[in-house]
Amino acid sequence: MTTENDIVYLNGRFLPLEEARISVLDRGFLFGDGVYEVIPAYGGRLFRLNEHLARLESSLDQIRIRPPLTHQQWRAILERLLPDDRDRSVYLQVTRGVAEKRDHAMPAQPTPTVFAMSSELESPFDVHAGVGAITLDDTRWKLCQIKAITLLANILLRQQALDRNCAEAILIRDGFVSEGAASNVFAVSDGVLVTPPKSHDLLPGITRDLVLELAQANAIKAREAPISAETLSAADEIWLTSSTREILPVVELDGKRVGGGVPGPIWRRMHDIYQTYKQLLRSS
Ligand code: PDD
Repeated sequence: MTTENDIVYLNGRFLPLEEARISVLDRGFLFGDGVYEVIPAYGGRLFRLNEHLARLESSLDQIRIRPPLTHQQWRAILERLLPDDRDRSVYLQVTRGVAEKRDHAMPAQPTPTVFAMSSELESPFDVHAGVGAITLDDTRWKLCQIKAITLLANILLRQQALDRNCAEAILIRDGFVSEGAASNVFAVSDGVLVTPPKSHDLLPGITRDLVLELAQANAIKAREAPISAETLSAADEIWLTSSTREILPVVELDGKRVGGGVPGPIWRRMHDIYQTYKQLLRSS
């Protein structure tokens, strides 16, 4: 949770959340014209910061906003938002800023609005029990590789899952898995871990990349390949990955048990490897 007294960063200033104000003419507010990142911090250390900042720069580049800060400046700002050693999630957002009037055309000399805050990182899930998910048609646009703040489609999709007591909606585009409404998707079939290759259909998840890296380092068979809806429904294991949920096993898909209906052996292995990796960062 972020509380009213928590210190946030807005356009060059650190101030209590309740004092942070932006103009109603901000293009983020009017158009959802901006991008964001969510970065976990364990024991007061930002996790995979360089990878998150590289993705931020890629998102900014694709929406034609010049990076407002250097990596060093970002690091300095974000570290000030970590008051203690507790695990936190840092949110940062860059919008195209305030324009004189509401006009779709991009302003010639925009001054981006830069905002960042952090909140306690608490998973609402018992990972060892696993979660339910449903499959839904991917109704989003064709630039899903951009981490855009424009998330209405994702919100509507995720809510349909929540309404059915499930944690996530797994999205299907033209018969193949793209990703979750706010996560990437992995499936295990015949002992091989598979995740869809990077494309405009999905966000290049930082957790996704780390899971592939850890699989390779630990001799877990893994590959990037399309996953059809049929393959997904017959998979032995399904996982969701994200910075805030880490690696979450799906034990029920569309009301049917996945594998044995409990988190599978490859998930248990990867979960342990991931937790050990996090511990190393804490103690390094
Ligand atoms: N979402 N795909 C989508 C659509 C996402 O929104 C996210 C993360 C991911 C996973 O990416 P990463 O491993 O880099 O967190 C994939 C964040 C956590 C959010 O919107 O809160």
